[in-house]
Amino acid sequence: MKKIAILTSGGDAPGMNAAIRAAVRCGIDRGMEVYGIDRGYEGLLDGDIRQMDWHSVGDILQRGGTILRTARSSRFMEDKWIEHGAMILDTFGIEGLVVVGGDGSLSGGLKLSKYGIPVMGIPGTIDNDLAYTEYTIGFDTAVNTVLGLISNIRDTSSSHERTTIIEVMGRNCGALAIHAGLAGGADVILVPEVKVDTNEICRKVLEGQATGKAHSLIVMAEGADFEPEALAGILEKMTGREARTVVPGYIQRGGSPTLADRRLASLTAAKAVELLYDDSDSKAIGMDSGKIIAMDLADALKIKPEFDMELYELANVLGKGK
Ligand code: F6P
Repeated sequence: MKKIAILTSGGDAPGMNAAIRAAVRCGIDRGMEVYGIDRGYEGLLDGDIRQMDWHSVGDILQRGGTILRTARSSRFMEDKWIEHGAMILDTFGIEGLVVVGGDGSLSGGLKLSKYGIPVMGIPGTIDNDLAYTEYTIGFDTAVNTVLGLISNIRDTSSSHERTTIIEVMGRNCGALAIHAGLAGGADVILVPEVKVDTNEICRKVLEGQATGKAHSLIVMAEGADFEPEALAGILEKMTGREARTVVPGYIQRGGSPTLADRRLASLTAAKAVELLYDDSDSKAIGMDSGKIIAMDLADALKIKPEFDMELYELANVLGKGK
């Protein structure tokens, strides 16, 4: 294979640039031509495709976001547009594609691959919601960003003896909330995967208060069954302590990627290029027990996410009391 392309799609994630850099440089190192597609599948459909050289990906390793830009393409949900995308790649003579994105983006890649173009999926999302891989690019950075916020919020919550609810991203997945809650010492973690009623939340907050804890921190996934302001109102009434809410939103999606994300991005992109060079069929590339893995793209996307109940329970035990 001589000509390959890369695109980033869906919500951006810190480390996507590291993946672009590795794909471009590994491809060139193997004597291939590497093309960058702007704005994900939207750019593909519009033919926004340019050849990348070694220096075009210089000085991006440390930057969050994606230099190729990204988009959520509604057009690419339709078969006629997917076929159009395959036709565009064919026109440019591109023989293989690297897609960096989440579940929807990789599923789009799978549909495209049916038109005879091998697609290598690289997991890029802060949500860590792709079941076939232990980690996704951007997750580690996002968790660390949330941890920084939790530390700051803890200071002021303690001074004012308040309860603070921090709503983190993650779509329908509680991974970001559990990891940030565990490492940030949250009193309560609320995730979409586990139903908890408000009495239970109040009980835990009161339990912490009774041990002399100055603050109460609740880390809540955006997909959990609560509205932060409404929950704060209930908590104030039931615990007698002031409650505040913080929704960091897109702050979680930006920032310089951590070592873990730069490493995962660089290794998965290098593997993607190696597989395309070897004329492999479509694969999903990820990590298992710290090692880079590649599995059939269709099979990988069929794997159902398994909730890490052990980690959730541990976080709950560790967050008890003062
Ligand atoms: O998938 C990444 C993510 O940040 C989710 O956590 C969040 O629900 C969603 O994207 C937000 O999407 P948008 O950027 O379209 O608002």
